[in-house]
Amino acid sequence: MLIHIQLFGTGKKVSAGAIAGSVVAGVVAPVLGVLLFLFYRRRKAKQNALRLGNLATETSTILMQKVTSSTTQADVASLAAGITVDKSVKFTYQELFNATEGFNITHKIGQGGFGAVYYAELVGEKAAIKKMDMQATQEFLAELKVLTHVHHLNLVRLIGYCTESSLFLVYEFVENGNLSQHLRGTGYEPLSWAERVRIALDSARGLEYIHEHTVPVYIHRDIKSANILIDKNTRAKVADFGLTKLTEVGGASLQTRVVGTFGYMPPEYV
Ligand SMILES: Nc1ncnc2c1ncn2[C@@H]1O[C@H](COP(=O)(O)OP(=O)(O)OP(=O)(O)O)[C@@H](O)[C@H]1O
Ligand SMILES: [Mg+2]
Repeated sequence: MLIHIQLFGTGKKVSAGAIAGSVVAGVVAPVLGVLLFLFYRRRKAKQNALRLGNLATETSTILMQKVTSSTTQADVASLAAGITVDKSVKFTYQELFNATEGFNITHKIGQGGFGAVYYAELVGEKAAIKKMDMQATQEFLAELKVLTHVHHLNLVRLIGYCTESSLFLVYEFVENGNLSQHLRGTGYEPLSWAERVRIALDSARGLEYIHEHTVPVYIHRDIKSANILIDKNTRAKVADFGLTKLTEVGGASLQTRVVGTFGYMPPEYV
């Protein structure tokens, strides 16, 4: 049966087949298109999720393979964070000997009351090796291990130590001499007022840190200009912190000896 519909009063007659065609073309096709688009998008998302899942499994497998070779929980945590841990703070005599060409005079950068200081490059880092004319006790070593963990911008970092033949302390190398050399004008330009204030503040910050924020706390007792080192940016770093305590601990037979420099330690200690 033919149905005739009058459109917009134009008097034009349209067949039902034509209307059905228009409806399919105008409404159903776009809806189908949208549905198809949504379907493919969902499938792609699923595939991506699957790929990511595989990647995660592969990564954790690699991580587990690495973890099996080490044992501590700290190692596992640092591996996961992508950090490598260097536990070797203990150097052999041979390592230090080689790095200083047999403690050659050309490597010597200073002389203190306890021994000489040599420049060397160790584990890819510039270092100052302090050779001390004394032996280390177990107590001394325990304290040294603590000191290797005391880090502050205004403290000279103790990288490690060696106890073969005598005691060696390995510090980070500070490039620009000590404050005494700067104040006495031995090869350095006079410091500006601003630099002097900043050095005083840096030293105070370093001292405050060891006096109040480390466990155990350390009292310096030898805070003199030769123990304040200046880096390449004219910032100050306190050196030899904890050492007077260490020498006391280590020198059991020298209990009556006052360690440090007169005039640079608290009067009540003297
Ligand atoms: N980490 C370092 N980087 C660069 N130079 C250093 C370092 N440590 C020491 N020195 C140099 O070596 C010198 C001697 O140091 P050391 O600490 O042995 O003696 P001191 O401070 O003069 O006297 P004391 O024996 O009373 O500490 C320092 O004054 C400094 O010039
Ligand atoms: Mg010193």
